[in-house]
Amino acid sequence: MPTHAGTPLIEARDLTRVYRRPRTSLARQGEAVHALREVSLTVRRGERFGIVGESGSGKSTLLRLLCALDQPTSGSIRFDGQEITGRPERALKFLRHSLQIVFQDPMSSLDPRMRVRDLVAEPLVALGEPIGGRVTELLEEVGLPASAADRYPHQFSGGQRQRIAIARALAPRPKVLVADEPVSALDVSVRGQILNLLADLVDELGLTLVFVSHDLSVVRHVCETVAVMNNGSIVETGPVDEVWAAPEHPYTRTLLQAVPTLEGLL
Ligand SMILES: Nc1ncnc2c1ncn2[C@@H]1O[C@H](COP(=O)(O)OP(=O)(O)O)[C@@H](O)[C@H]1O
Ligand SMILES: [Mg+2]
Repeated sequence: MPTHAGTPLIEARDLTRVYRRPRTSLARQGEAVHALREVSLTVRRGERFGIVGESGSGKSTLLRLLCALDQPTSGSIRFDGQEITGRPERALKFLRHSLQIVFQDPMSSLDPRMRVRDLVAEPLVALGEPIGGRVTELLEEVGLPASAADRYPHQFSGGQRQRIAIARALAPRPKVLVADEPVSALDVSVRGQILNLLADLVDELGLTLVFVSHDLSVVRHVCETVAVMNNGSIVETGPVDEVWAAPEHPYTRTLLQAVPTLEGLL
């Protein structure tokens, strides 16, 4: 556990994000899509925070804002006490260092022309940090042999590719790991392994985790807190075991009825 465990690390206030669909005529503006509506949340240091909701509910939009990969239409985000909205890229170096992301599909997040060694080292190169023996160390941490370094992404299975993506995310020793549906593109049979790996690493390294899934049983397996999203808003938030056992919002109940259970896989 890092020091100051339990104090606020990410504080989002009243985040709204409106997208404009492309215009279909010269006379009219493109239609507005309210992807997020005044969303507020606090992620504490060392917390494993899950965001759950069906497809289109605004989860990825929220994550992109929290990672400063996109800007809100209105609202603010403080990371480690510093405002990150409306800041130029050069003022966000601390964030790029502290926060790393694992995406849904490792096939599209890993450049197929690069060897694993260079893929894993890339975040270090980008931050101007020494590589040393870090690649081998990281491959070991995610359960891959050192020989994987000389191979290309297509030479691995989906689960192994997600291990490579996790190794790459951990390279700059981030404080926060953000994962957007990290097992949804994988074979059902390997989902449990990757979730367990993520949970173990977060625990061992004392990381803060922000984890998105459409499946509450997956969130329950790796997170302690959950925020339930519906139509761009957070409709319910609390300890995941409480939300699982006694959902308050009707939408959460619907979501619970829809989740395929992970029993037998974990
Ligand atoms: N770049 C974009 N331009 C227009 N609409 C978008 C864009 N990205 C997302 N949306 C819309 O915003 C809503 C939320 O999308 P998203 O955040 O991807 O949801 P989720 O990750 O929960 O599936 C959806 O209606 C989606 O169609
Ligand atoms: Mg998404």
